[in-house]
Parts: sequence; structure tokens; C-alpha cells
Amino acid sequence: MSTIISPSLLACDFGNIQRDVEMLNNSAADWLHIDIMDGVFVPNISFGFPVMEAMNKHSKKPLDVHLMIVNPDQYIETFVKAGAEIITVHYEACPHLHRTIQHIKSFGIKAGVALNPHTPVHLLENIIEELDLVLIMSVNPGFGGQKFISHAIKKVAETKTLIQSKNSNALIEVDGGVNSENAPLLISAGANALVAGSFIFNSPNPSETIEKLKSI
Ligand code: DX5
Ligand code: ZN
Repeated sequence: MSTIISPSLLACDFGNIQRDVEMLNNSAADWLHIDIMDGVFVPNISFGFPVMEAMNKHSKKPLDVHLMIVNPDQYIETFVKAGAEIITVHYEACPHLHRTIQHIKSFGIKAGVALNPHTPVHLLENIIEELDLVLIMSVNPGFGGQKFISHAIKKVAETKTLIQSKNSNALIEVDGGVNSENAPLLISAGANALVAGSFIFNSPNPSETIEKLKSI
């Protein structure tokens, strides 16, 4: 299976959302990564439902929604109605993670869990069979354009071992500072999906950059 590429719209031109989403529709991108930040779980606020609905209106690809918010349960249904096909919540934000995952899956969509850089992979050992996706954060969440934390490569390998030991079908996604230098290392370690924001949108030809990442 080739690597899934999920460009982060956090780095798009918000004055030209339709143009950028259409560029992604016509590119090798597989999913569109939607970063939702609440200013509480992370020290930044990104955008909310009206903006996500505008993205969904123009998108022909699945929306991969990354919730960096406290108490995500109260908004799951609204995110599903806004077009989410994958919803990932943070381990650190969910005291009743099993319930939250079942809640997401009850809408017939995929459920993921994200781990902050300091959160060990083994904490997923009693939930991994329930997950469609594990998101390894390779920056501290809250901002695009940060430097890749290379310890994430080791965590990807640990996640792969855990998935295999439990016969889980979860995909491994990596998010933060991903570029063409670290992508091969992440893929060798077992990553199935790569999120990239600034590396794609700040490049001279975003569509070509997606193609390059896809062909690694
Ligand atoms: C960080 C977000 C990322 C971010 C990635 O909190 O979760 O998805 O947009 O952006 P880059 O690729 O620029 O690090
Ligand atoms: Zn993200």
C-alpha cells in the first residue's frame, strides 16, 4: 500500500479556501487534514464549523479531522455532520477514551487517537484493537511550521510492534514537521499516513510536492 498523504489545511490560504481545496482534489492527496484547536487544550485557536463546512463543500476527498480540544465528546456529532470521515482525539484530552472511541465509531466513521510527544505508546495497549488510526505527534500540537521531533520515528516503530502484537488494523499517521527528509525514515519505521502542512503549502508547487511525498 502506498503512503496516505493528508495535507493540513491549517497551512492553506484562508482567503482562497476553495482554490486550495480544488488544488488538493486534483492532486495525489488521499485525505484532507483538518486541525481543530480550542485555545484550551492547545495554546492556539484555528477555525470552527463554518470554515470546516466550507472546506467540506469543495472537497472530494475524506476529511481527516484532528481534534485538539478538551471534551471532544460534546462535538463529535457536529463534526460528523460537518463532513468528518475520520475523527482523531487526543489521549491527553479523554479521561474516558474507550467511550469516546465507541461514540465516534457509532456514526460509522473511523476513530483515531493522537499521542503528544511525551505520551508513551504503551498507554494504548488496552485500546489499540478498537482503533482505526494512531496519530503520532512529531511536534507539540498547536502550531504549524514547527521543527520535527525525531523521537517520533522510534514511537512509530513501537506503535507498529504494538499493532502487530494485538492483531489490530490501526493505521499509523504522523503529524508535525513532516518533510521529504524525514518521510522515508517514518515510512521505514511503519508509518502509513503522513500529514504535512507548511512543507506542502510553502513549496513553489504544492501539487508536485504532494506527488513527491506520495512516491517515497
Ligand atoms: C499541529 C497540527 C499539524 C500542523 C502540521 O498542531 O496538528 O497538523 O498543521 O503542520 P506542519 O506540517 O507545518 O508542521
Ligand atoms: Zn494535525
